[in-house]
Amino acid sequence: MVTYVDAAEAPARNTGAIRLYGPEDFEEMQAAGQLAARCLDDLCDLVKPGTTTTEIDDFVHDFALRHDVVPATLNYRGYTKSSCTSINHVVCHGIPNDKPLKNGDIVNIDVTFIRNGWHGDSSRMYPVGQLKRAAERLLDVTYEALARGIEAAKPGATTGDIGAAIQAFVERERCSVVRDFCGHGVGLLFHDAPNILHYGRPGEGIELKPGMIFTIEPMVNLGRPHVKILSDGWTAVTRDRSLSAQFEHSIGITSTGNQIFTLSPAGRHKPPYL
Ligand code: MF3
Ligand code: CO
Ligand code: CO
Repeated sequence: MVTYVDAAEAPARNTGAIRLYGPEDFEEMQAAGQLAARCLDDLCDLVKPGTTTTEIDDFVHDFALRHDVVPATLNYRGYTKSSCTSINHVVCHGIPNDKPLKNGDIVNIDVTFIRNGWHGDSSRMYPVGQLKRAAERLLDVTYEALARGIEAAKPGATTGDIGAAIQAFVERERCSVVRDFCGHGVGLLFHDAPNILHYGRPGEGIELKPGMIFTIEPMVNLGRPHVKILSDGWTAVTRDRSLSAQFEHSIGITSTGNQIFTLSPAGRHKPPYL
């Protein structure tokens, strides 16, 4: 059974009930989301061979301070950085470190800012220098997978319709969808109900209703879908060490479709970021 609750009356924890947010809440999400998007825009110029992911994380941390927002990952369940930086075969939750990026790397930068209590969560892939054709194709497929998931997100559709749209496209492109991580309700909480699976069948899951706010964040591998977590307890990598990519947006369901809160104001939606 699915239960719904007016976001204003909902307890401040994830109870499994799905919060329905109002128009003022959508404005708050738009403001939080746009700050995350502007930070991701500004990072384009920093990502090049020689840059370390610590330098990227420092930029994100400083951006947050300058704009009076809080990086949601900082001290979240023991995580101590302001961003996640996931390189090549790292699927997600890569921890920034002092190793320089190399020509040909692909890196996902995932940023969540809390503004006035509201969480704007988004990530993009960044090419480092000149990519090989396979890496370039993976970024295209993953971006398009997110776009197709978002297109399927509208009132009357289900969470399964989103997953099915993503999976059908990704597998047609001979890539695979990671099953171990999913999108999530977002808003006043970082990770809330419902789960948004990036695979599934049309009509499965719960029906989407105006006022729902969640992320879609497909992780797509060039090889097999299986992942393992490294001994740091965070870093997820592909078991077959194949390349992995991810794009993420925070969106809200409207009466006619959806609103993307984390769209790039600079038009830096996908590489190449000119
Ligand atoms: N931003 C990630 C997401 O998209 C979550 C990162 S949690 C962390 O949901 F602790 F790993 F940072
Ligand atoms: Co997320
Ligand atoms: Co994220």
